[in-house]
Formats: sequence, structure tokens, C-alpha cells
Amino acid sequence: MERLGEGERRSLGFRILSGSALAALIAAVIITPVVTMIHHDDGAQGSSSSAFRPASGSHAGSTSTTATAPTPSAAPGTSLSTAPSAAPGTPPSTATTDPAPTANSAPTSVVEELHLNVDDPAGLAVVVNKTRPIHPKKWKPANLDHVGAVAVREDVAGPLRKLIKASVKEGYPVYAHSGYRSYQDQRSTFNSWVRQLGKAKALESSAKPGFSEHQTGLAVDMMSADGHCNNFSCFTTSDQAQWLAKNVHRFGFVIRFEAGQTDVTGYESEPWHIRYIGKDLAARYEAEGWHSLEAFFSLPPAPDYLQ
Ligand code: DAL
Ligand code: ZN
Repeated sequence: MERLGEGERRSLGFRILSGSALAALIAAVIITPVVTMIHHDDGAQGSSSSAFRPASGSHAGSTSTTATAPTPSAAPGTSLSTAPSAAPGTPPSTATTDPAPTANSAPTSVVEELHLNVDDPAGLAVVVNKTRPIHPKKWKPANLDHVGAVAVREDVAGPLRKLIKASVKEGYPVYAHSGYRSYQDQRSTFNSWVRQLGKAKALESSAKPGFSEHQTGLAVDMMSADGHCNNFSCFTTSDQAQWLAKNVHRFGFVIRFEAGQTDVTGYESEPWHIRYIGKDLAARYEAEGWHSLEAFFSLPPAPDYLQ
């Protein structure tokens, strides 16, 4: 390159900064930061800045993979499919953070799979036990109906009548001995057992008020109607008890307190105490061979009261 003298360099520098060139430089100094700021904002929100894509992708991903149950909003074709990371042209490495449904989002229990509510006393899937009191504690079903002398929830009455009718037709007649019990009724029942058996024994077979599923209107104590047995003691070894164990699921019930499940349910065997959960759930409970609602719904065992 041709070398320039000091005077020529100064002269050249002046010529470059003179006239329109100087105006252009001034404009560049003033305008460039503004343009840069605008571009940066676009980049943060748009596709030109890949640095922000993993953040939004991982946020969406954590939402879908840590959710306890897939929801309709996570179904294919909804917002997940329009997430930036799924846009055409996304590099394969980014695609690995795509929050597409995976094995991680598969339901891990029937409660997740069917979106059951095990807390709502008005629902058919409510679980009441020694660690899960009814809330609110004096809750009462809105609609009760009567089957024989006992009250049950309106939606339990029909299935219970069918069960009783079938038991008569099939030669193992039973009747409803005790159904819905209010908080106050349960207090009287529990206290009565305490007087008869002593508190320690009573706790093995009777719930404290606020902790009995009889208060939901979904539980019924059945008794033999064959004229030979009219108490819980003989019912335990009766043909009717066996018939109930084999057939209650046909009508939407389960045997709530099976023998050998005391460490899970908190109570000794009660082959007379049936609990309505609805026909579909009861069919699944039976087909899959469950022995407690706690296990069926993946809930912790409830062997005793927390306090
Ligand atoms: N006998 C059952 C446990 C109740 O009292 O609810
Ligand atoms: Zn009962």
C-alpha cells in the first residue's frame, strides 16, 4: 500500500469527515443505538433470538411434564403444538426440549387418569378415613332418598334397590340396615360402641364423628334378610356376605373394609359395609383386583388418626 505523509493523512481524514460523509457519521452515531434497542426487543420476543427459545420452551415443558395429570389443554393440537420450539426450522437440539407429551405425562393413578376428586364429599370418588375427615366436618348430602328404613344419597338409592332385588332373586336376600348418618348420629353411634366395647376396641370398628363415610350418604351396612341371622357377628360367616363380596361391583359398590386390610383402612373386616363409587369405577376395582379404596386411588394407608 502507498504510504501517506502526516499532512496527507490529516487532509484525507478531513475529506472523509467533510460534507455528506460527516452528516452520515453523525446520523449513524445518533441513530444506531436506537435501532439497536428496537432490534434487541424484537429479538427477545421473536424468532430472531434463539437465546430466548429454550427459556420459553423449558417453561412450557415444565408445565406439561410436572403437571399431575394431562389436561385437555395439553392434548395434541392445542397450545403446545404452537410453541416456538415446535416451529418449522427449529434445530434438532432445540426439539429435544420440546414439551411434547411423553411418558412423563402419562397418568400414574386412576385418580389422575380420570381426574377424580377424592376430597369432595359431594363426589362419588371421595375418600374418607382416619386421616381424611369430611370437609366441612358437618357436611350433609343435598339430596337423600330412602331405601326401606334407611336414608342414602339420591344417586345411591337406585343401585341399592337393584342390589337388594338381585340378592332376593339369586337366593341371598339382604336389606339395608344403616345408611346415611349425620355428624351427630355418628357421634351417638361411636359413643355407643365406646360404652359397649371400650374405646380401644370401638376405634377398630367405628369412626369418630366427622370421619365416617356414612356421613357422605354413600355407605350402607347390609344385613341378612333370610330370617336366620340378624347381627354383624353371624353375618360375617353368612352366605349373604359371600354373595355381597362377589356381586356388589355389579351395582357400583365395593366392600370397603376387607379382612387383612386393617393397616390400610384403619378398621377390622366389615363384610356388611358397602360403599358406592359408581358402576364404571367399581367394575374396574373388581377387574383389577383391588382390596381398598386407598390403594385403588394411590392414597396413603390410614391406619390411625393423626392426633
Ligand atoms: N364402621 C365404619 C368404620 C364407620 O363407622 O364409618
Ligand atoms: Zn358401615
